Amino acid sequence: MAAPDIETVAALCKRRGFIFQSSEIYGGLRGCWDYGPLGIELKRNITNEWWDAMVHRRDDVVGLESSILMNPKVWEASGHVETFTDPLVECKNCHHRFRADKLKSDTCPDCGGILTEARQFNLMLKTFLGPVEDAAAEVRLRPETAQGMFVNFDNIVTSTRKKIPFGIAQIGKSFRNEITPGNFIFRTREFEQMEMEFFCKPGTDTEWYEHWVSTRHRWHLDLGLSCENVRLRVHEKAELSHYSIGTTDIEYRFFPSYEGEDQWGELEGIANRTDYDLTQHQAFSGKSLTYTDPYTNEKYLPYVIEPAIGSGRSMLAFLFDAYHVEPTAKAERVVLKLHPRLAPNKAAILPLARNKPEIVQMARQLTSDLRKRFVVAYDDTGAIGKLYARQDEIGTPYCVTVDHQSLEDNQVTVRDRDTTEQIRISASSVEQLLADRIIDS
Ligand code: GAP
Repeated sequence: MAAPDIETVAALCKRRGFIFQSSEIYGGLRGCWDYGPLGIELKRNITNEWWDAMVHRRDDVVGLESSILMNPKVWEASGHVETFTDPLVECKNCHHRFRADKLKSDTCPDCGGILTEARQFNLMLKTFLGPVEDAAAEVRLRPETAQGMFVNFDNIVTSTRKKIPFGIAQIGKSFRNEITPGNFIFRTREFEQMEMEFFCKPGTDTEWYEHWVSTRHRWHLDLGLSCENVRLRVHEKAELSHYSIGTTDIEYRFFPSYEGEDQWGELEGIANRTDYDLTQHQAFSGKSLTYTDPYTNEKYLPYVIEPAIGSGRSMLAFLFDAYHVEPTAKAERVVLKLHPRLAPNKAAILPLARNKPEIVQMARQLTSDLRKRFVVAYDDTGAIGKLYARQDEIGTPYCVTVDHQSLEDNQVTVRDRDTTEQIRISASSVEQLLADRIIDS
């Protein structure tokens, strides 16, 4: 099947309540999006999978939630005040603004007008803390969650007694005044990041870098992205961030209608940040961040390997890969073949005769029983074909129908989203079937 374009996925997301434009009734706010009832379920499933894989199932990573607003010195030390910039050009004719490094020609892509010289534009958003709006009260919204981990490094070593190598993980909002937000939720001005800073002994950093590149690559494939749509790309020296000596991007084929290289966009970056951040914070704060090896007494500043990904971008990749249009006897069906653990609803319970109280009651009972363990939808608002189509389009792995026969033999029909095959099983074994096929999938 041909890959969907971004407009098709965005239209489905709006129609079915995954993603809406922020403050849409006022004309929206560029680069800001809201996650609707299904979107928040899908996003939470993604962040939970990440947290499980990165924190709960490992001995060597702990979690953190640091504040979005931080002491302004953090951003001076981190290098973001000086270097977190994009080159900005403006068209002298239509006054549209562009990132100079993303333009394919040197005239305005919108009207052909002449562009100004590029100037460096800092991407950090500012606000004021406290009642006086002067320079002393100015603070920035964090452009990455990472700095929260660096400034808490010593707190975490002291409070948890973690020994190197170990990591600190965080999921939280970041903000960037992107010059050209766009492509739906691919590039936004407010977004959620899932980042982990892995502190290791200098000299072991290359090994850990390779470990995290392959571990993160596998995570995407295990949760359903197809191999042919995912690739690894090593950064050229010139494109490395100011803190990195080596970065590998995990790229996804977000833009299949473009030619060649333009089809690919960054999904996740894994960077070797060396001891850059700890060195800077040690110098700017005057506090020692040196680590003392408890076995050898050796003192050093650890190196850091960082896998960093946006949860929205991850969601977009999963939606793209899951989107299928399939022929059926009557019409085409749109089906989101999301990994069952990512699907917003794990099952939908559908009574076949909504006018028959006993059937409705049995379906309602099954729904509330299953809701103790799973997110389950109940729908009796249409004919069965329509109900199946609705659930297919939002990626519900199983539909369970309750019919007249169910009242006699206590059996229900379970339909598989991907194969549309149906099996008849007892109502009391639906919970086990979902557990086997979803939790253990
Ligand atoms: N701490 C390192 C860091 O922030 P980055 O490559 O700038 O590195 C990491 O960002 C990830 O965050 C990206 O791979 C992408 O998934 C996500 N991301 C970055 N900017 C974004 C934006 N404007 N909108 C949505 N996601 C973004």
